[in-house]
Amino acid sequence: MSHAEDHAGSRRDFLYYATAGAGTVATGAAVWTLVDQMNPSADVQALSSIFVDVSGVEVGTQLTVKWRGKPVFIRRRSQEEIDAARAVALTDLVDPTSENANKPGTDASDQNRTMDEAGEWLVMMGVCTHLGCVPLGDGAGDFGGWFCPCHGSHYDTAGRIRKGPAPRNLDIPIVAFTDDTTIKLG
Ligand code: FES
Repeated sequence: MSHAEDHAGSRRDFLYYATAGAGTVATGAAVWTLVDQMNPSADVQALSSIFVDVSGVEVGTQLTVKWRGKPVFIRRRSQEEIDAARAVALTDLVDPTSENANKPGTDASDQNRTMDEAGEWLVMMGVCTHLGCVPLGDGAGDFGGWFCPCHGSHYDTAGRIRKGPAPRNLDIPIVAFTDDTTIKLG
């Protein structure tokens, strides 16, 4: 009987689960190594990044790509969309935080939502923060941004929730330009 099998069932079950497809483990001491390995390594995280060519995205249009199984909206905003988003007072927002993984802890001003200072590029998860439907874009909804038809959540041109049951602004993932026309997600 191995050291690991001396322990209670729950731990043994976990051990079997953890080792499925990962080879065999002979001693209890190896359990902790496995637990450590269950956190994604830098290699695995790199594999889950994708590069997107945005050279064909016209002003005022949106490219939707699938990343980690979810849609991501890559929008190249028109000046009208930028101006509309920047005219909104923070006090009018339901969620006052940027929800931007690149700028944690910042407020939801339009400048904290976009990739570039001019505010042209806005990249967000295409997942409604209410129950996860994919919002409609291209000026949909009462605020000219996105509209989730599942239960009626309206997002503005910065992807901030303005009306309806969604509690938070659309999430902004880790994203960066790697050159003038390539965006890296993750
Ligand atoms: S899932 Fe979008 S409003 Fe409910």
